Amino acid sequence: MGISVAPGSMTAEEIVSLSRQYTLYEWSAQGAVDPIAVDRAEGVYFYSPDGTRYLDFNSQLMSVNIGHGDRRVTSAIARQAEKLAYANPFMAHEPRARLGQKLAEVTPGDIDVFFFTNGGAEANENAIKLARQLTGAPRRWAAETGVWGVVRVPDSHRWGEAAPDPVDVSLRGLEEVIMYEGPQTIAAFILEPVVGTNGILVPPDGYIQGVREICSRHGILMIADEVMSGFGRTGTWWAVDHWGVVPDMITMAKGLTSSYLPLGAVGMRRSIAEGFRDRVFYGGLTYNSHPMGCAAALATIAVYEEDGLIEHARAMGEIMAGHHADLMARHPSVGAVRSIGLFGMIDVVRSRSPFEPMAPYNGTSDEMKAIAKYLRDHGLYTFLRWNGIHTNPPLIITEEQLAEGFAIIDGALSIADQSVR
Ligand SMILES: Cc1ncc(COP(=O)(O)O)c(C=O)c1O
Repeated sequence: MGISVAPGSMTAEEIVSLSRQYTLYEWSAQGAVDPIAVDRAEGVYFYSPDGTRYLDFNSQLMSVNIGHGDRRVTSAIARQAEKLAYANPFMAHEPRARLGQKLAEVTPGDIDVFFFTNGGAEANENAIKLARQLTGAPRRWAAETGVWGVVRVPDSHRWGEAAPDPVDVSLRGLEEVIMYEGPQTIAAFILEPVVGTNGILVPPDGYIQGVREICSRHGILMIADEVMSGFGRTGTWWAVDHWGVVPDMITMAKGLTSSYLPLGAVGMRRSIAEGFRDRVFYGGLTYNSHPMGCAAALATIAVYEEDGLIEHARAMGEIMAGHHADLMARHPSVGAVRSIGLFGMIDVVRSRSPFEPMAPYNGTSDEMKAIAKYLRDHGLYTFLRWNGIHTNPPLIITEEQLAEGFAIIDGALSIADQSVR
């Protein structure tokens, strides 16, 4: 194929073609992937090489919280790259020192000590390793790879029209599993305080507090996975802040650097870190505390603070909830809407009662494909999953830009309305 060699000179078609030919796409049957070629991005928009503009209504992967192309972050990364691009994890360096101290300030309660990773999955894995080593409930090797020895509990905040179980029923269900397994065999309970990709499921008031109480009573560590919900996504620094709960560990990534560089972290209460004063923590990563990642995170946190982005997200979250309610009132194809801050979801249905999603769980449909095509053709990028339309824009979004995005979603839903019974 005659592909030009100068960097930045490939066409969108060339980029897509080579990407599909030589790279494997995640979560996809390779024959079905149809990626957008991205060339550059600024604010809430990104652009393909031919100049087509897309409004990013999902902050890429619910992660570019401060928006694209913020020079305060890119310059901090460049400066750090020139000074010290890498030091191994046994060293101490200024970005690591400052980021630990800064995170202690912005995380809940006495979460004061941080272990840095490359992203969210590793943050969760290491939180579980820490919990197993500390509680002496390892079941197997202290640092074995993969996820083993996990018992799952039902998610009682079901999606769609189903009313969530009352809080006491959910909590009783959790405690029954704990008693059946034996609390002494359980190192930790890990949960997303607001479930993200699986549908923006906001727990009823009392649930998170109840989990905290059950974990404390049984000597089980509570780990909040705030990889997606942290850093202002829900209109507070952390989702757990909505319920005034301090977990024993909190995992983060995505918004930590707004994805300008890969970085994750496990935050832990000082009492947990104290448990490793004389005991070895069996866990490590070549890129733990990467100087450039830490520098990117420090600059990103400064942007949240300087621009008041957490408060802005809360205010824009209310505007977004208004758009959701308006769509629900006008479109029979909207079966339910949910949001907290700028973390939102629209359930598209064939029928509200009985509740019939426009695509099956784990599947798609012609109607959802038509919605996807409409959004893309009209310059709106967001995450569509099964019958859901995610609405998770960067926290910098303005009222006008929200209106611009929801006008496009409005048009797409008019197509879906035609398939309502
Ligand atoms: C709640 C949650 N936890 C963990 C992860 C994994 O993070 P990463 O992809 O950075 O490894 C994700 C990714 O979407 C997530 O949403």
